[in-house]
Amino acid sequence: MEKTPIQFFISLIIVLGRVVICHTEISRSDFPDGFFFGTSTSAYQACVLTVLSLVSRWIEGAVSEGGKGVNNWDVFTHIQGNIASGDNGDVADNHYHVYKDDVEMMHSLGVNSYRFSISWARILPRGRFGDINPYGIEFYNNLIDELLLKGIAPFATLNHFDIPQELEERYGSWLSSLIQDDFAYFAEICFRSFGDRVKYWMTINEPNVYVKFGYLKGQYPPGRCSSPFGNCTYGDSETEPIIATHNLILSHLKASSIYKIRYQPKQGGYIGIALNCPMYIPMTDTEMDRQAAKRAMAFDVAWYLDPLMLGDYPSEVRNCLGNQLPKFSKAEMNMLKDSLDFIGVNHYITLYAKDCIHSACDLGGSHAIEGFVYTSGERNGIPIGERTGISRFFVVPDGLEKIIGYLKARYNNKPMFVTENGISSLDQTTEDSKRIEYHKSYLAALAQAIREGADVRGYFVWSLMDNFEWIYGYSMRFGLHHVDYHTMKRTPRLSAIWYKNFLTNDIQTDQSVSKNPTKDHNFHVTKTNATLSSSF
Ligand code: BGC
Repeated sequence: MEKTPIQFFISLIIVLGRVVICHTEISRSDFPDGFFFGTSTSAYQACVLTVLSLVSRWIEGAVSEGGKGVNNWDVFTHIQGNIASGDNGDVADNHYHVYKDDVEMMHSLGVNSYRFSISWARILPRGRFGDINPYGIEFYNNLIDELLLKGIAPFATLNHFDIPQELEERYGSWLSSLIQDDFAYFAEICFRSFGDRVKYWMTINEPNVYVKFGYLKGQYPPGRCSSPFGNCTYGDSETEPIIATHNLILSHLKASSIYKIRYQPKQGGYIGIALNCPMYIPMTDTEMDRQAAKRAMAFDVAWYLDPLMLGDYPSEVRNCLGNQLPKFSKAEMNMLKDSLDFIGVNHYITLYAKDCIHSACDLGGSHAIEGFVYTSGERNGIPIGERTGISRFFVVPDGLEKIIGYLKARYNNKPMFVTENGISSLDQTTEDSKRIEYHKSYLAALAQAIREGADVRGYFVWSLMDNFEWIYGYSMRFGLHHVDYHTMKRTPRLSAIWYKNFLTNDIQTDQSVSKNPTKDHNFHVTKTNATLSSSF
């Protein structure tokens, strides 16, 4: 039910009252100087503009507004049945047209950073096989300049699930090693065009999620899988995830090497990757389930980060997949170890892990590709934390502290950013006290991890505003700002007001939102053979 302005005002006063009381629990001064506080979005979810009628004939090289090419999600969402609600990202939040207002909205929140992604098909409508789109370059130049004007540091992701559809059609995208050169080509254009101002790069967003949903379950494009993992026309869930993972890792390596050799020395920025980092805890206090939790962590996290940090796939994954797992060459191994300056931690999930090697798992988890682990948010019918809009996302704040501890221990306390954290609901209202509690509790857990010595340098709320939530369409809302999809009006939720207060209520805040945020970092960059890497 709509609230009258007076009712809205009264609830606002109540929440602000609570915020004042809670301010002693967690405040900005619990975090180090120069800490980045921001919000995140991605191109397809917030920005895209695709002219519907052209999607069906993308094969002719159709482009949409601003010269953007058709991408994999444009095509996938227009195939009936792929997105239950029938929604698509054709217009999304219309951010493309109102980016200046959106930057002002961030400015009024008091954030000092913003994580967004660059639409590959807007820069290269046909990948390597066509021209650079000057309007795409112009759009991101304008966005970056506007952010800097408002004292907001741009954190750019090169690939957040969307690729030019041409690459899918030509060679099967991530299933082919050809994609590595396409990605490197795109990345270099971005470093060359924007790297004078963008100092924080993430090559790929959540390759682990993309592989799971694109090639194991078939719920994201290219919609490939095999039974019993999903119901697809094409694909092989037992082998393709392994191939796609390998190509994603080597694509990261190519882009990162180009940055480190050709751009980092003169541009002085940093490059990382953003991984979905769930936390798994043993279902029972038995050695079998403790090992299962370790395997679950390895399959979700270390499968990607071990190569990038330690140069090879983890033994936990190799023990399950054996020779199916490809090998890196010696040269690749050496370069891989130096390919990350920081780890981007997207954290939403903490689940129980149950062993499926020694016991039967009827509900899933009995295959090698799953690490012989069954994962669930429930134990004996009791949920691990409060439920949220998405069934496997529960509220478990110390899951964040634990995953940061895991990464710190396994990767020698590499600098980290929490590049995504947030809670969804199907709720249309702007009164989201649950979201406020969520962020407060996760920030408290993060502050604790930092006190214990973890090198975490930033926290980005997912999301600045409601947007296209992949298979859930527009029904699932993650925003600090509510979006009315008919008028595109953004309305701050109570959580936006809380975040603003959190960010601006103490003196440090104003100092850390400097006019030149990119100078605030304190990475120490050391020269190695041919590349640069950060240490601490
Ligand atoms: C993705 C976002 C997504 C969010 C919430 C992350 O997996 O990077 O694109 O909206 O989770 O589901």
